[in-house]
Amino acid sequence: MTRELEAVQAFHQQHADIVVKPLDGMGGMGIFRVGPDGLNLASIVETLGENGARTLMVQRFLPEISQGDKRVLLIDGEVVPFALARIPQGSEIRGNLAAGGKGVAMPLTDSEKRVAERLAPLLNERGLFLVGLDLIGGYVTEINVTSPTCFVEITEQTGFDVAAFWLKALEKRLSLT
Ligand SMILES: Nc1ncnc2c1ncn2[C@@H]1O[C@H](COP(=O)(O)OP(=O)(O)O)[C@@H](O)[C@H]1O
Ligand SMILES: [Mg+2]
Repeated sequence: MTRELEAVQAFHQQHADIVVKPLDGMGGMGIFRVGPDGLNLASIVETLGENGARTLMVQRFLPEISQGDKRVLLIDGEVVPFALARIPQGSEIRGNLAAGGKGVAMPLTDSEKRVAERLAPLLNERGLFLVGLDLIGGYVTEINVTSPTCFVEITEQTGFDVAAFWLKALEKRLSLT
């Protein structure tokens, strides 16, 4: 995470194929992939970063995105057992449903479960009742804490009622306080 062009350039030198995005973005807005030729890197950083006023997230490009960006929901420290793989279509790298990604619900893999179960209590302790983790190729790429989506798609495709699970957790929490 940085606001400095030099830091982004050094990261690009090291990894060659990278993704630059606004730290506080959503729905796939402002996601840029920059390959080995570095085309447009400085302009992208200046534009997205509003000349140093906004913080950028820079990551290695993960080719596993072709299998989808997995949304894993954490509710009151518990892991919802089904993820929604959001698979980019056509020449897109963005899997966001808002950017035309295709949502396919599936059980978490063992390694995804391990990551989610490790993070769930830590995030819950920080007061985060509802969290949407985004995992690409098993790596956490984003932690969404403001109204994360995909309840509807997971429920429709698996029959696991995410909203009921959420409501039950909320009632339990309220009865304890
Ligand atoms: N490191 C990465 N490697 C490959 N694709 C990525 C990477 N980071 C983001 N993307 C693509 O961009 C999309 C949106 O990125 P994300 O960080 O989740 O931001 P947003 O808040 O807009 O959802 C992801 O669903 C994925 O398709
Ligand atoms: Mg996301």
